[in-house]
Amino acid sequence: MAICAPSSDSSSAGSKSGWIVHGLLLGAAIAAAAGAHVALGLRWFSRKSRSKVIGIIPARFASSRFEGKPLVPILGKPMIQRTWERTKLASTLDHVVVATDDERIAECCRGFGADVIMTAESCRNGTERCNEALKKLGKNYDIVVNIQGDEPLIEPEIIDGVVKALQGAPDAVFSTAVTSLKPEDALDPNRVKCIVNHHGYAIYFSRGLIPFNKSGKVNPHFPYLLHLGIQSYDSKFLSIYPELPPTPLQLEEDLEQLKVLENGYKMKVIKVDHDAHGVDTPEDVERIESLMRERNIS
Ligand SMILES: *[C@@H]1O[C@H](CO)[C@@H](O)[C@H](O)[C@H]1NC(C)=O
Ligand SMILES: *[C@@H]1O[C@H](CO)[C@@H](O)[C@H](O)[C@H]1NC(C)=O
Repeated sequence: MAICAPSSDSSSAGSKSGWIVHGLLLGAAIAAAAGAHVALGLRWFSRKSRSKVIGIIPARFASSRFEGKPLVPILGKPMIQRTWERTKLASTLDHVVVATDDERIAECCRGFGADVIMTAESCRNGTERCNEALKKLGKNYDIVVNIQGDEPLIEPEIIDGVVKALQGAPDAVFSTAVTSLKPEDALDPNRVKCIVNHHGYAIYFSRGLIPFNKSGKVNPHFPYLLHLGIQSYDSKFLSIYPELPPTPLQLEEDLEQLKVLENGYKMKVIKVDHDAHGVDTPEDVERIESLMRERNIS
């Protein structure tokens, strides 16, 4: 993955606003930073807070837009396998499992060596599936990372970045990632935009373009942010999150993550350099395959 340049704001304001994660370099960046950073880092580790981490890849067979999506071959390998292989490369995860309601998916995953947890068909979304999987595992994890199975090119560094962000922000219950929004995606409601404060906490997510320029047009100079479908939760929070009743903004925008903010919880956001290649439709498969050929990814 390419590595983001630090923004001028993050280098001048120090630990509080250093929210841009440098991919692979996160550890090095912490070590090289001011003493406060290092001391803080040691404190988290000595307290062993949030040190046990599980990555869960929720995968369902039924889908209105793309039936059997997790099993679709991408350059000859099932998409779920590609996601799993990338996830296994993340260094912060103690355990990786696939959570599914479908025996075909389960069988495929066991075939390439993944641990599988069967979850109920009634799970309404990935978050609920993760929560059920966690309960079924019956082990204690401090952090759960929800890795969407439809991003087969997810960089392990992004997974690690999201985990470290949550470990580094004890006041947050949730962490996620954003990347630069491409101008052509500015008005696409399927591309979720995000705004953050100086400390790297989410202010709001929207399907509309935020912030909205006074001129009514897309500002070609504004660094708009696109939300990526990876999130990690404090596991205690995950156990109450699905039970929290839907909130007005969540319902209006149809964005699950707004429930977190509307209930007053804090969400840490990292910025990464990532070309999103989510697979939502059968047409996306061809697109991602040609891109992989171009980049020599096998
Ligand atoms: C809106 O966008 C324009 C560029 O298109 C920019 O010059 C201006 O500063 C932005 N903000 C406002 C309030 O107009
Ligand atoms: C899952 O989806 C349902 C229905 O859209 C929603 O009410 C619920 O809040 C979602 N779960 C979480 C954890 O947000």
